[in-house]
Amino acid sequence: MGAALARHFLGAGDRVVVIGRSRAKFDALLATVTGDDRSAASRAEFVAADLSLVADSRRVVEHVQANHERIDALVLAASFIRQRRHTTAEGHEASWALFFISKYLFVTGLAALLRAAERPVVVNTAVPGARADAIDFDDLEMGEGFTFARSNAQQRRANELLGILATNDNLNLAYVTWGPARLVRSSFAGEVGKGMKVAAAVLGTLWGQRPDAAVRPIIDIIDAPAPGRAAYRGVKKRTLTVGDHDDEDAARLAAAVGHELS
Ligand SMILES: NC(=O)c1ccc[n+]([C@@H]2O[C@H](COP(=O)([O-])OP(=O)(O)OC[C@H]3O[C@@H](n4cnc5c(N)ncnc54)[C@H](OP(=O)(O)O)[C@@H]3O)[C@@H](O)[C@H]2O)c1
Repeated sequence: MGAALARHFLGAGDRVVVIGRSRAKFDALLATVTGDDRSAASRAEFVAADLSLVADSRRVVEHVQANHERIDALVLAASFIRQRRHTTAEGHEASWALFFISKYLFVTGLAALLRAAERPVVVNTAVPGARADAIDFDDLEMGEGFTFARSNAQQRRANELLGILATNDNLNLAYVTWGPARLVRSSFAGEVGKGMKVAAAVLGTLWGQRPDAAVRPIIDIIDAPAPGRAAYRGVKKRTLTVGDHDDEDAARLAAAVGHELS
């Protein structure tokens, strides 16, 4: 979906920075940009990074800060699904590092560039609607009791709380947690069991949307952002999950992640 969005905005004449692991995939993406404008390559930039590594996420933030004056839209869409707990070379639980820590570093580290935009928007492809109590603040990396379902719910809830931190800091900012209306026929990169692989392949073939169709609602959100937090499934706005102490939880999350990264 990230590639489909990059293709769209390059075709529309925007400058796009793509962050990923594979330059070959970036080159292939550039070759598919359509439209009359032949200047896409000069408006596209690739930054190689493994976003499950804190050092790489920090390096990207520094690179973007040094080379860009403003960010109109920040799309957080890297995905690598792991059914089992996995530790990165830096010692962090890999799904938490990719699906939350890197997003936290981007949203907080690039806040000044988002503030420089007239109508800034963050689209975080973390499916909204996780339970308000899905975060184990005392064991964010799930040293105990890791399951795919718990890990998935925790990062989704954390990404909603990240929206509270981001919009408190920038009243102009639109912060959207977004999930597709139904399965998207994407690469489903990850280390998953045969059951999940087969289910995704079968369901994707039968009911899956093409990525370029699935991202249409994201394009509309980016083109006309509304300040504040919002949650969407496809084109449909969803009610934001409201817990008893969301502001306190958001502050607690920031403190716990700060401690993790110190
Ligand atoms: N597809 C669905 O039906 C669905 C449903 C619900 C939510 N979502 C969410 O939508 C978002 C996009 O998903 P998608 O379906 O487009 O996924 P995808 O096709 O698997 O693409 C994920 C992208 O992330 C990149 N990536 C993976 N690990 C990375 C890493 N460590 N560092 C940097 N880049 C990395 C991949 O590049 P490489 O291949 O080069 O690693 C790939 O370009 C995700 O947040 C996902 O959770 C998708």
